[in-house]
Amino acid sequence: MDEPHTTAGQRAAAASGRPRRVVVGVAGSIAAYKAPFVIRLLRQAGHEVKVVATESALRFIGAPALAAVSGQAVSTGVFDDPAAVEHVAVAEWAELVLVAPASADLLARARAGRADDLLTATILATGAPVVLAPAMHTRMWLNPATRDNVAVLRERGLTVIEPDRGRLTGKDSGVGRMPEPEQIVSRSLAVLQGEFGNDDAVEPNGSSRLLTGRHVVISAGGTREPIDPVRYLGNRSSGRQGCALAVAAVEQGARVTLVQAHVASELLDALPAGVTVVAAGTAHDMLRAVREAARDADAVIMAAAVADYRPLAAATTKIKKSAPTTSDRRNEAPMSIELTTNPDILAGLVTDPPRAGQVVVGFAAETGDDDGDVLFHGAAKARRKGAHLLAVNAVGEDLGFGDVPNAVVVLDARGSEVARGQGSKMEVARLLIGLTADLMGGS
Ligand code: C5P
Repeated sequence: MDEPHTTAGQRAAAASGRPRRVVVGVAGSIAAYKAPFVIRLLRQAGHEVKVVATESALRFIGAPALAAVSGQAVSTGVFDDPAAVEHVAVAEWAELVLVAPASADLLARARAGRADDLLTATILATGAPVVLAPAMHTRMWLNPATRDNVAVLRERGLTVIEPDRGRLTGKDSGVGRMPEPEQIVSRSLAVLQGEFGNDDAVEPNGSSRLLTGRHVVISAGGTREPIDPVRYLGNRSSGRQGCALAVAAVEQGARVTLVQAHVASELLDALPAGVTVVAAGTAHDMLRAVREAARDADAVIMAAAVADYRPLAAATTKIKKSAPTTSDRRNEAPMSIELTTNPDILAGLVTDPPRAGQVVVGFAAETGDDDGDVLFHGAAKARRKGAHLLAVNAVGEDLGFGDVPNAVVVLDARGSEVARGQGSKMEVARLLIGLTADLMGGS
C-alpha cells in the first residue's frame, strides 16, 4: 500500500492527546478500499484500532488486509464469538466509532436502530461518539430517504461528515465521494475532543463543502406593492424558506446575498455570518437588487413571493373612502384599483443573465384547479420560466406558508421531475442547495 499523505491527519492526531481506542467500521461501498488508509493514519498517530466490517464490505476489501493494517482480527457478525458478547464488548471498549465508508444502507440501518450485524449493534450499544463518513452515488445521497436518515442521525448527535464531490464509480461525477482519509481522521479526532460538536456540515478546513468560494444570491419574503402611503398589495410569505436556503448555502461554504422583502427581523437576526442582507420592498426594488447582486453570483435562487401585479399608480395621499350619496349604504360606489404587470425577475434572469453560466432556481407555490393538479401547473410554469430548477409546492391553509413542514417536487426547465423532498424548511433548503451545487459543478 502506498504511504498516504499524512501531514494534516498526523497534526490533528498529535493534537488529540492521549492514545484512543477507535472502532473503525467499514460498510459495503467501493470506497472501502480507502479504509486501510484511515486505519493506518489512526495507528500512526498512536491510536488503537479494531475493525468491524459488514458482510458486504468484505466483498470490496478482504478481512486479511484490514486485520494486517489494524493489527487485530476483523469482526463481522454478532455471532462470530457469542461467548465474548462482542456487540456489547466492542461498543464498551470504543472511545470513538468511526464508520468509513458509510453506505446508504448503513445509514438507513443506523437510523432505524437495527442491530443485525456487529457494526450496527456496536453503533446502537456504544456510548462513544459516532462519526459516519458517507460514500455513495449522488442520487442516493440526495434522495429524500437518505437526506431524512442523515437529518435524524444528526439530530440524535451522531456526526455525519459531508461527502466530497468529484468522480464517482463509473462515468458519473457529483457529490457522494468519501472525503480523503486524512480529512476523515482529523474531523473524527476533533469530534472526540468536542471541538466541532455536532456542527455536521462544517469541515475543519472547509475543503469538503460544496460551495466554498461561491456567491449565491437568494431572495426571500413577499413584496408589497403600494396602493397609497398606508396601504399595499401583499402576500403571506414569511421568508423562512429563503432564510433556510441562506443558512444551507453558508453551511456549504457559500457567501450569500439575501435580498429580502419584509422578512421579520427575528429571522434576519438569526442568520449566520456570511449572509449579507439587502432590503427590497417592492418587485421593482427586488428586480434592481437581485440583478445588481447577481452580477458576480454563481447561482440565484428566487424564493421570494414577488407580486405579479402592482397598482398602476400609487396614490401620493391616503385614498379617502367615498361618501355615500344617500343614507342607503347599498348605493355605495364600488372601489376598484387598476393593476399593471410587474417584471418577472426569475424569467429575466434566464433570458438575460447578469453573469453567463449562473444557475437559476425558482419556487412555485401552486394550487390545483379544474385544469390540473399542482404538478400539472408546476410543470407548465417550469417550461414557461425556463429556470434550471423549479421547486414546486402545494399551498393550502396549512401547507407551504409559515412555520410548517414543506413538501416540494423539483422540476427541470422541461418540467421533468428531478427530486422530491419533504420535511422542515431547513431540510428542503439542504436538498435544493445540494441540487444547485450539483448543477454549478466544480470551480
Ligand atoms: O409566477 P409565480 O409567482 O408563481 O413564480 C414563482 C417564481 O417566480 C418564484 O421563484 C418567484 O420568486 C419568481 N417571480 C419573479 N418575479 C415575479 C413573479 C415571480 O421572479 N414578478
